[in-house]
Amino acid sequence: MTAQNPRKILVTSALPYANGSIHLGHLLEYIQTDIWVRFQKLRGNECHYVCADDAHGTAIMLRAEKEGISPEEQIARVKAEHEADFAGFQIAFDNFHSTHSEENRLLSEEIYKACRDKGHIAIRSIKQLYDPVKELFLADRYIKGECPKCDAADQYGDNCEACGATYTPAELKNPFSVISGATPVEKESEHYFFKLPDFQEFLQQWTRSGTLQDEVANKLAEWLDSGLQEWDISRDAPYFGFEIPDAPNKFFYVWLDAPIGYMASFKNLCDKRGDLDFNEYWKKDSTTELYHFIGKDIINFHALFWPSMLSAAEYRTPTAVNAHGFVTVNGSKMSKSRGTFIKARTFLNHLNPTYLRYYFAAKLSSSVDDFDLNLEDFVQRVNADLVNKLVNIASRTGNFIAKASGELSATCAEPEMLQQFIDAGDQIASHYEKREFGRAMKDIMALADRANEYIQEKAPWAMNKEEGRHQEVQDVCSVALNLFRQLVTYLAPVLPEIADKTKAFLNLDSLDWEARREILLSHKINKFQPMLARAEMDKVTAILEETKTELAKENGEAPAVDNSADKTAAKNAEKKADKKAKNKGPELREDGNEVIADTIEFPDFAKVDLRIARIVKAEHVEGAEKLLQLTLDIGNGETRNVFSGIKSAYNPEDLNGKLTVMVANLAPRKMKFGMSEGMVLAAGPGGEDIFLLEPHDGAQPGMRVM
Ligand code: MSP
Ligand code: ZN
Repeated sequence: MTAQNPRKILVTSALPYANGSIHLGHLLEYIQTDIWVRFQKLRGNECHYVCADDAHGTAIMLRAEKEGISPEEQIARVKAEHEADFAGFQIAFDNFHSTHSEENRLLSEEIYKACRDKGHIAIRSIKQLYDPVKELFLADRYIKGECPKCDAADQYGDNCEACGATYTPAELKNPFSVISGATPVEKESEHYFFKLPDFQEFLQQWTRSGTLQDEVANKLAEWLDSGLQEWDISRDAPYFGFEIPDAPNKFFYVWLDAPIGYMASFKNLCDKRGDLDFNEYWKKDSTTELYHFIGKDIINFHALFWPSMLSAAEYRTPTAVNAHGFVTVNGSKMSKSRGTFIKARTFLNHLNPTYLRYYFAAKLSSSVDDFDLNLEDFVQRVNADLVNKLVNIASRTGNFIAKASGELSATCAEPEMLQQFIDAGDQIASHYEKREFGRAMKDIMALADRANEYIQEKAPWAMNKEEGRHQEVQDVCSVALNLFRQLVTYLAPVLPEIADKTKAFLNLDSLDWEARREILLSHKINKFQPMLARAEMDKVTAILEETKTELAKENGEAPAVDNSADKTAAKNAEKKADKKAKNKGPELREDGNEVIADTIEFPDFAKVDLRIARIVKAEHVEGAEKLLQLTLDIGNGETRNVFSGIKSAYNPEDLNGKLTVMVANLAPRKMKFGMSEGMVLAAGPGGEDIFLLEPHDGAQPGMRVM
């Protein structure tokens, strides 16, 4: 790549839902993308970064209803909030639009019609559960009832958390609508399907053509091998979305028009700017590049449906889809009760966004692994790297120049060292290009260490006290500030604010990657001004406290903030995520909802009678795929019979005599194979990886667990 021959690149981040606030999890994605985009721009490439709010769907419609406003008002409110949050974190979109826009309506209709005219749309009647009170078809996540296999109560419409069975919502016993509580009725209606199986061959090739990370491609290969399903792209009224052409009262499912929102946002940008050509970026054999940055939960939408639709409509397909993992805080999923479900705004109320941008960069790689934000490490790391190493270079040397001529020396005292710093830029650039930001930061901080060693060794502050060494002081500080300039150039994609302050301090117009090659000699600079304060742990504590207060407020006015349907969806998504948390490869999500942890009060917890139990007998259950039958000694001569879904992980003979923990006051449950009187505790994602909790020796059956 040379600056003379710039690449033309269009980049997107996933479109955040217009029914919730931006939080730290989202920010990992927007910061990752923003760093990559800024890097491309600093390299002299033509790069455009577009995004939008994802404004359609049932959840947004219901949310607006609860708030007593129109969906249009609802999405306008959230858009303003989102844009302010993004600006606060210096996410520099070239355009931020909405999927509820005219551009998106036109493009969605066009792409749909192209698919339809080529025979890729099927229409057929399906039976679905319908809420007769709310007059609304119910998606799986809006229905609960008893498990058709084991009778466990309060199960979601698609799978049972008690026995692991999967089923359709129509199979649930005593189902009820989560929205109104009404008993759903079965109702038939016509649905429109995108015939994904038509694209089997195309996808087999596309997913293996360097467009996806290996781990993602492998995961998708499993699906491709087991055969693809048609995709239901229609929803019945009432629905907040676009009506399907020639299909009155049928609406595009939110995930049909959401990715088209990328195109719509770019179209909107082209119309605003006038010097950009939409077709150049989207036409079939485009030579420009297109990258989508997304979370691992939405890979199926971006790597199966989306490229298929694009190719059917004769548009270009993405150059690559870059998936990242999920943010955890202090090793656990973000949780409202622990105060770690941190909103962008709450963070900004207490801490400088520069810290988070740096910490994300320092730990990001190109993999889909989850990302742990350890709050103590966070504070320690940003102080060590940014304050002690980076800014220190300028603060220890800047004013020796300012107090003298205000100009850097006319010759360079350490040309070799400077050349090494300049040369290191190529490797650093290659790390950025490959989204190996952690490696880039490591290289940069190693250089910063060398710069500090140099300053320490020369000790200009001591030299300055000696007679006749004035020029030497100027020379050393000039070297140091040139090194600082190199370092800030390399960090500019991550730390735009420090870059701006450095430009002002060093009197530079730009910190472009190529400009670094020129050493600053006889160059006028300005007085050094503090660039970054230390991050403080008590500010972090304040963030956690404020987050907990938000939760308390939300609970106080529960209906206004979080309707029960949202919560159901969130819980459901959470459970699914939990189950798959330890599986290799990406988790995939069917709906678009947050993965958050709910809370209980202490008295709720205290109601659970947890006891040490000894497994005195473990046996196979005839006809049961997943269950083992356990006889548990819970002390005082009392035994319990428990069916437990751990067969995939344990042989009964290995369990005999083991201690474990059980819930002793769980209401007995009648199962197909007999009565289950409690439940044993285990951890793990499932399959072979289920780990029964085993207390230390010394614990005795009957002891209470507290
Ligand atoms: N609206 C859809 C995307 C449509 S794209 C055509 C959606 N929205 S979202 O608000 O739920 O998520 C937006 C992005 O943030 C997704 O890429 C998602 O993976 C990411 N994240 C949401 N929570 C996250 C974490 N806790 N951690 C990391 N990324 C997370 O999905
Ligand atoms: Zn069940």
